[in-house]
Amino acid sequence: MGLGGTFRQASSSERIVRAVLAECAAVGAETVMFDGPALAGLPHFNPEKPDRTPEEQALVEAVRGADGIVIGSPGYHGGYSGLVKNAIDLLEDLRGDPRVYFEGRPVGLVVTAAGWQACGTTLSALRDVVHAMRGWPTPVGVAVNSVEQKPFAPDGSLADDGIAAAVRAQARQIMGFRMEAGA
Ligand SMILES: Cc1cc2nc3c(=O)[nH]c(=O)nc-3n(C[C@H](O)[C@H](O)[C@H](O)COP(=O)(O)O)c2cc1C
Repeated sequence: MGLGGTFRQASSSERIVRAVLAECAAVGAETVMFDGPALAGLPHFNPEKPDRTPEEQALVEAVRGADGIVIGSPGYHGGYSGLVKNAIDLLEDLRGDPRVYFEGRPVGLVVTAAGWQACGTTLSALRDVVHAMRGWPTPVGVAVNSVEQKPFAPDGSLADDGIAAAVRAQARQIMGFRMEAGA
């Protein structure tokens, strides 16, 4: 399952998450995407409010059932966006599961930012979140400088060979992930 993106029509972080999902789908994965507008439909997470909207339930169920997760965010002020954080906070609902949060699953991370500094800090921050939630960030994170690089061709396909290679490598790591017994 993929999660991320922004309100922007041509959100680069959303499109790169979708590209990772497409690579996974090409080798047999069933995929689902929660993009910026979908995440914007979630209420602000309130730990004291136990009832859930259908949209909140759908996101929690998608993560609960996923064998792999891809999270994408723009770098906003040096970190990941509030939209993405609000969705992640909702996953507190997985705290009591036999498989808590992201446990036992690979999590691919995608960041786009206007500068390299936010690419690095945002990717690193997301890795920390995945570790806190007991997931396994893939070794390959995809960080795209949306000003210096030209990630997309006019038809929307990936135009940059290096980005395309990173997307494929991340998808391979997600699809090839195997938990060691007892890990
Ligand atoms: C509110 C806001 C804050 C941003 N802060 C940063 C930043 O700190 N560093 C940076 O490199 N780019 C920053 N950017 C640029 C975005 O990270 C960049 O345009 C990104 O590719 C947008 O992702 P999207 O195409 O998915 O919307 C900011 C953009 C916005 C709208």
